[in-house]
Amino acid sequence: MSAMPWHTSPRLQLGHFPTPLDLLPRLSEELGGPRIWLKRDDCSGLAHGGNKTRKLEFLTGAAREAGADTLLTFGAVQSNHCRQTAAAAARLGFDCHLVLARMVQRDHKDYETGGNVLLDELLGAALHFTELAEAEALAARLVADLEAAGKTPYVIPGGGSNATGAQGYAVCAEELVQQCAAQDVALETVIHASSSAGTQAGLLWGFAHLGAAPRVLGVNVSQPDPATVKARIQKILSDLDERAPAPTPVDIEVNHAYFGTAYGQPTAECIEAIRMVARLEGLLFDPVYSGKAVAALIDQINIGNFSDARDVILIHTGGTPVLSVYDDAFV
Ligand SMILES: Cc1ncc(COP(=O)(O)O)c(C=O)c1O
Repeated sequence: MSAMPWHTSPRLQLGHFPTPLDLLPRLSEELGGPRIWLKRDDCSGLAHGGNKTRKLEFLTGAAREAGADTLLTFGAVQSNHCRQTAAAAARLGFDCHLVLARMVQRDHKDYETGGNVLLDELLGAALHFTELAEAEALAARLVADLEAAGKTPYVIPGGGSNATGAQGYAVCAEELVQQCAAQDVALETVIHASSSAGTQAGLLWGFAHLGAAPRVLGVNVSQPDPATVKARIQKILSDLDERAPAPTPVDIEVNHAYFGTAYGQPTAECIEAIRMVARLEGLLFDPVYSGKAVAALIDQINIGNFSDARDVILIHTGGTPVLSVYDDAFV
């Protein structure tokens, strides 16, 4: 494969790549639709894996190049991105500050101590809990305090989603093109949970550069209005295009049908989908992100939207460390 624009960006090794592309035979048979393939980005390494490993390879590469000694980022209290940033920082010898915003209405007794928060602490990050409206001001104060103390912070946006981080998903697109050719899988549809948009933007940009054009179906899990996710994808795509313009136009598709009532609130279909895949395939998904993508995939097959397809690819973007603080959703 000839050199791609992301090949020359600074990047530090953090994960295990390529992640496997596995057939899910029992789920495929149960649903009676296309063959379902799972791109195992939950096995990307870095403190339970997930989609942030790919983004963080580029973000920490940029941080190192900028001479930073501290990573600072944002997320919801149970952010997977924050947990993986804490792990990347530990692995690479950066200090790490996490601004954890209370943006999910949940009264689970362990919500602010268990799940990802427990892991953030174990990984040695400094945790700063705050209300959502105050998160940006708090981060600005932390940056000023760190600089006053002689540190050099590097600020990573929520979800690791900017053009730098999104390059990680161009790498995923490249892996998929190669794996589909080697494993005789039709690269027609890729489906995944979408939120801060770096995953979807990076995939679209990567596929365009690779001359591949699968449908990339983002499942909105975070925004009451899916237009917000689309606008985020568009913004990251135009920033990526400034680095290297996509040679063909890309189609941004965000499905809102599986969102439910709010970010972080599981739907009944998502809980049922998580149980089904666990029992049929021995695989774990979470009720905030990847479980909603599984629910979308199952429903789309059941309503006949993939009836002409031979294969469909689901990306497992991780997220299972929250399961313990969602045990009440499974009763
Ligand atoms: C487990 C998991 N899946 C999917 C996503 C969505 O990815 P993105 O924010 O790149 O849209 C996230 C982001 O926070 C996540 O933690």
